[in-house]
Formats: sequence, C-alpha cells, structure tokens
Amino acid sequence: MAKVAVFGYGTVGSGAVEVMVKNAEEIAKKTGVSLEVAYILDLRDFPGDPMEDKVVHDVEVILNDPEVKVICETMGGVNPAYTFTKRALELGKSVCTSNKELVAAKGPELLEIAKANNCSYLFEASVGGGIPIIRPLLTCLTAEKIEAIQGILNGTTNYILTKMSDEGADFADVLKKAQELGYAEKDPTADVEGHDAGRKIAILSSLAMGQTVSYDDVYTEGITKITPVDFAYARALGLQIKLIAMSKMTEDGNFALVTPRLLDAKSPLACVQDVFNGILVTGNMLGDSMYYGKGAGKLATASAVVGDVIEEAKNEGRTIPVLWKAEKAAVSNYKDLSQQYLVRIAGTDEAAALAAFPGGKVVKVAEADNEFAVLTENMKECDYDAKAAGLSVISMIRM
Ligand code: NDP
Ligand code: HSE
Repeated sequence: MAKVAVFGYGTVGSGAVEVMVKNAEEIAKKTGVSLEVAYILDLRDFPGDPMEDKVVHDVEVILNDPEVKVICETMGGVNPAYTFTKRALELGKSVCTSNKELVAAKGPELLEIAKANNCSYLFEASVGGGIPIIRPLLTCLTAEKIEAIQGILNGTTNYILTKMSDEGADFADVLKKAQELGYAEKDPTADVEGHDAGRKIAILSSLAMGQTVSYDDVYTEGITKITPVDFAYARALGLQIKLIAMSKMTEDGNFALVTPRLLDAKSPLACVQDVFNGILVTGNMLGDSMYYGKGAGKLATASAVVGDVIEEAKNEGRTIPVLWKAEKAAVSNYKDLSQQYLVRIAGTDEAAALAAFPGGKVVKVAEADNEFAVLTENMKECDYDAKAAGLSVISMIRM
C-alpha cells in the first residue's frame, strides 16, 4: 500500500483524490499498486466531504510521516508550493504536480534535488491537462531531433475563441463560464494574456532541447485584443483563429512564442475545439505526431496527476530520469521569424497597402466599415514592421 498526500484540495487536487478512490481496483489490477490517500493539505476545512478526516493544515504533519512516499502538489503558484516541494524531495518523498508555474520557474532545480535524494519529480499534468505529452517526449521520442512543437496549450482560451467564433459569444461571458467550469487559473490574466501557454511551451521546449528555455524568453501575446471583426476576416478566408504556442528550431535560430494565429482549415490544430488542446510535434525522423485531449478540467487533469503518482509509487527509492539541465538555451528574437500576416488597415487606400505588401491579398467584410485587410506574403516580422510603418494599421494577426 502506497501512502499518498495531496497538497491543495481544489479542482485538480479533489479530482486526483476522486480518481484514486474510484479507480482503486482498476489501478491495483493493472499496475499492482494500491494507493491510499493518507492526508490532504489545504487552508480550508471540508465539512461533509467523505475525505474531511484526512484534511490537515500543517505541512509538517505530512513531511514528518515517514510512510508518506508520494505527494501530489496541486496547490498552484510558486510559493509556498516551491518550499513544500523542495522539503518533501529532500526527505526522499516523490512529488508530482500540475503546477506549470512552479515547473517553469524551478523545474531543473527540483529535478536535481529529487535525483540527489533517490526520489522523483514528475509533471505530466503541467502541460496539456490530461494529454500524455511529457512522457512521450521523454521516452518514445528520444531517438528524434525535435524540430518544432506547435500547440493549443490553454483550454480556457481555446474555449473562449471557439465560443466567440462559432456562437458570436461575448469574451467576458465565456471567460466567466470557463472559470465556473474550473478551467481558468486563479488569476485568469495568465490564461487570456498567454502567460500560461508561455510557461507550457517553455517546459516542452526545455524537454525537447534538454536545456532550459526560460519562460521570460518566450514572447507572449494573448487573445484580449481579438474582436468579432477579426473572426469575420478569418471566416472570409476560410481560416480559424487559435492561440498557438510555438517552439521552432530553424536555420534562422530557435524561436519560442505564444500568439494568436490564423490556421488553415486543413491544419490538424484548426479543428481542436472548446477546452481541448492539441500538440503537434515534428521530429527529424518521425515527421509530425499529434497529441490531443482535454487540456483543462478536474478529472482530465487529475488522470495525468494520478498516472504520475502510480509511476512514482512503482519506482520508490529510485529516480525516474528527466533530462532537463539548468543551462540556458539560446532563444532568438521573434522578430526574425518568417510568417504571413493579416493586417487590418483603416481607410480605403488599397493601392498604398499593396505597394507596401506586393503579392498581398485584399479582403473585405460586411462587418467592418471604412477598413480592409491584406493577407501578406511570407516575411520576417522585422521586415513586416518596416513595411507596415507607413500604413494606418488597426491590428495584425500572424498566420
Ligand atoms: P484551485 O484553486 O482550485 O485549488 C488549489 C487548492 O490549493 C485550493 O483549495 C487552495 O485553497 C489550496 N491552497 C492554496 N494555497 C495553499 C497553501 N498554502 N496550503 C494549503 N493549501 C493551499 O486550483 P486548481 O486545482 O485549478 O489548480 C491547481 C494547480 O493545477 C495550478 O497550478 C493550476 O495551474 C494547475 N492546473 C489546473 C488545471 C485546471 O483545469 N484547473 C489543469 C492543469 C493544471 P484556497 O482555495 O482556500 O486558496
Ligand atoms: N488554466 C489552464 C488552461 C489549466 O485553461 O489550460 C490547464 O493547465
């Protein structure tokens, strides 16, 4: 019997407990591991909850119990999650987490501490919710040189964009609904401004390169400036607007960025809807492989957390290897990345716009007065900036 403690009995933590209790028989039958939820650490009490007698408020109670071998950290935030995780690992207790903010900030350090203390630090649920993506990258794809990772890595924003695009829904209303459904971060600014997806692509890029791609080096734009008129232009061109996190290793450099993008209807990411996430990994031998599933939500995320709990319980007394060095990877300036741009321009001077963007395609929609848009040819963003400087640009979306 493996004694497990859960730090944080919120959406994901309570889901992890539910998975461990409901699927106890299935887990034991398949893996030979019997899990017992021994403690739940939270700030609150949970009167009437079937697990109410497991709740403690002092982390020391858990850290001082030598029988607790595995901890799920589902509190969120960097502190005190960092301090609690570090203490647990130093005591030889394995930790698994859904907390991408902590993994992006302190991943390599916590992995080193785990290694020094013959225990493990796993974080499958930190990227893509319930989608298996970290373990495939660390095991099945080790023969590959990863050339690109592109993904819809945030469930909340994909849910919002889907509802705005398909139903004409209002941004604020859909965000509220995403919060009610337990998809959003405590401060949803992290979702809608792209910071959450930025942390996730930093984690995936670091694992792909084996070095640290710092979250601070990821250029990030969110979805707060996307309007119904942008969706009208996208529809006119048969394109979808998605928040895409991207890591590309090209001849021009290594790029890591999060921005809204126009996707061709044929792109496998274009049909990823609602809270679902999709991750397209390009390897130099395999080519493209795609990972798809629910990117947020209680039980989907908890499923990935409990998968890690089982791995850690099975590997008690040893470290499950994760290659991620603290050494920083070089990240190039996003202005050197080549792509197309859909530029909305005020007025009617199409000739001036096409002089700036020769070969561009002019688009007009009934939803917008006294403006038009140009879909440009491929060019580096620094060149786009120079060409757009003389025009009355309303907004731009990359493709
Ligand atoms: P919640 O806010 O629902 O849960 C966090 C829980 O931890 C709350 O019960 C909170 O208590 C408790 N907590 C906070 N600080 C402490 C502390 N110092 N000591 C003890 N308990 C504490 O968040 P989620 O479950 O949604 O998210 C948890 C983590 O998982 C985050 O890192 C999030 O980014 C990540 N994640 C979330 C997903 C989702 O779909 N929700 C999906 C994938 C990852 P209180 O409420 O009283 O503050
Ligand atoms: N807020 C996050 C999202 C949770 O919406 O994707 C999953 O990491």
